[in-house]
Amino acid sequence: MNVLVFEDFEALSIAAAKRVEQQVRENSASVLGLATGSTPLGLYRKMSEGITKRGMSYRNVQTINLDEYIGLDPLHPRSYHTFMDEHLFKHVDIPEENQHLPNGKPDSVEEECLRYENLLDSIGPVDLQILGLGTNGHIGFNEPGTEPDIETHCVQLADTTREDNARFFGSIDEVPTHAITMGISSILKSKEILLLASGKNKAEAVKTLLEKNITKEFPASFLWNHPNVTIMVDREAYELM
Ligand code: GLP
Repeated sequence: MNVLVFEDFEALSIAAAKRVEQQVRENSASVLGLATGSTPLGLYRKMSEGITKRGMSYRNVQTINLDEYIGLDPLHPRSYHTFMDEHLFKHVDIPEENQHLPNGKPDSVEEECLRYENLLDSIGPVDLQILGLGTNGHIGFNEPGTEPDIETHCVQLADTTREDNARFFGSIDEVPTHAITMGISSILKSKEILLLASGKNKAEAVKTLLEKNITKEFPASFLWNHPNVTIMVDREAYELM
């Protein structure tokens, strides 16, 4: 696991965007695994700037997101579909048919999970997977206690996760209780993983991750079982090291 420490969120976002742009320049048909949350926002902004400032194009890229809330249809203002549209897709040239997220309002959640894992296997492996880090160590929505061999599945969100994400909703009561997420084993199928963590409120989680105690109580620790993981953190997220 490589650890890269940056001065601040801006520097971290620039470095992450450089890695993504390098990946797409080397292979214009790359498969990018994408995440939601506040942390990748800087990266997505820089990727958007890359279109106008650096002549980047994503027209052959496929993207596959980690997760989606259950109960929110794609057009719901708080769905991860809408999040990705607003923060990335409407600013870059990834064809709509190449943008993949789980459907949060399927007829059958079980079938949707199966469909999504099959999709991952058919367009994958993911060349570069972007991850954020939950304060409780979750990646995607794999909450503490998740077995590492599970593929895309339905999860009940931890109270801490709903509290952390309440800022995107009016109140915690509006945060969905369940989500569809790629599993740990789905995530570990990627060729390369880039985990981003920024700010003081991630310092404890970063410290726990770097202790290398591989346990299902801290799902991100399973990243130690992958041969090509880079952690990009800013100074604040690294302050307990
Ligand atoms: C959500 C997402 C995760 C993300 C996490 C951290 O729970 N499902 O994929 O990594 O939030 O979010 P943030 O970057 O806002 O701290």
